[in-house]
Amino acid sequence: MSSQKISSGITLATLKNIKERGDKFACLTAYDACFASILNKAGVDVILIGDSLGMVLQGHDSTLPVTMNDMIYHTQCVKRGNKSSLLMADLPFMSYASETQTLENAAALMRAGANIVKLEGGAWIANTTKLLMERGIPICAHMGLTPQSVNRIGGFHVQGRDTNQAQLIIDEAHMLQDAGANILLLECVPRDLAKSITESLEIPVIGIGAGPDTTGQIMVLHDVLGVSPITPKFVKNFLIDSKNGIPGAIEGYVKSVKNHSFPEKQHCFN
Ligand code: KIV
Repeated sequence: MSSQKISSGITLATLKNIKERGDKFACLTAYDACFASILNKAGVDVILIGDSLGMVLQGHDSTLPVTMNDMIYHTQCVKRGNKSSLLMADLPFMSYASETQTLENAAALMRAGANIVKLEGGAWIANTTKLLMERGIPICAHMGLTPQSVNRIGGFHVQGRDTNQAQLIIDEAHMLQDAGANILLLECVPRDLAKSITESLEIPVIGIGAGPDTTGQIMVLHDVLGVSPITPKFVKNFLIDSKNGIPGAIEGYVKSVKNHSFPEKQHCFN
């Protein structure tokens, strides 16, 4: 059999090497082919086809209405425009509630073009992580603020502020690494907590509203371009200072992440 590359660009090994070197990588959401190509050219390492599309594209007030068909469609669109970034796709709300459902839905996202799937949760997704990992599907575990649980949490609030909650996040992060997760994503947690988790795990950690010490940073595309209806504390509009419109804004974001100048103090929770 002739050897054939599955990707001409970033792989999970690239991200692990970046962590080992003490460097940073940049991730951004995209939902279509045109933006995938712009993100490639700007040097974005990981493109997330996020279920945030339910809020920024579809106008819902949460990610809960997003379906598997939505995720498959947008993953296919991004795949067609992508040449070099690693593609991560979200398993949407209630699409990984049972084993059979998880395997079918994760496989559908991989067939649509994803290189890795992301799911939200702590200890309860450890078995799911092991199940998928054993079947060749890489996993990003999304912890901290998990928007699919917004009704249980009671809003989009910072997580891990008290000692017990912080310790639970640390313990569950290790549990998920041990179960085979390839990447951890931390959303809206205090900077010190994200720093200690990043340092104690072997796998790369991506942060959003988690301070500057995680291996990678991620933002929602519409936030970077300043077109989202709400602007959380951790968001920076990179279009304002761009001298080259949208491509310049994305390049500015990538450069700021890689030279450690974003996020700044005002974007962090303490
Ligand atoms: O769906 C999404 O865009 C996300 C990011 C906020 C990390 O999960």
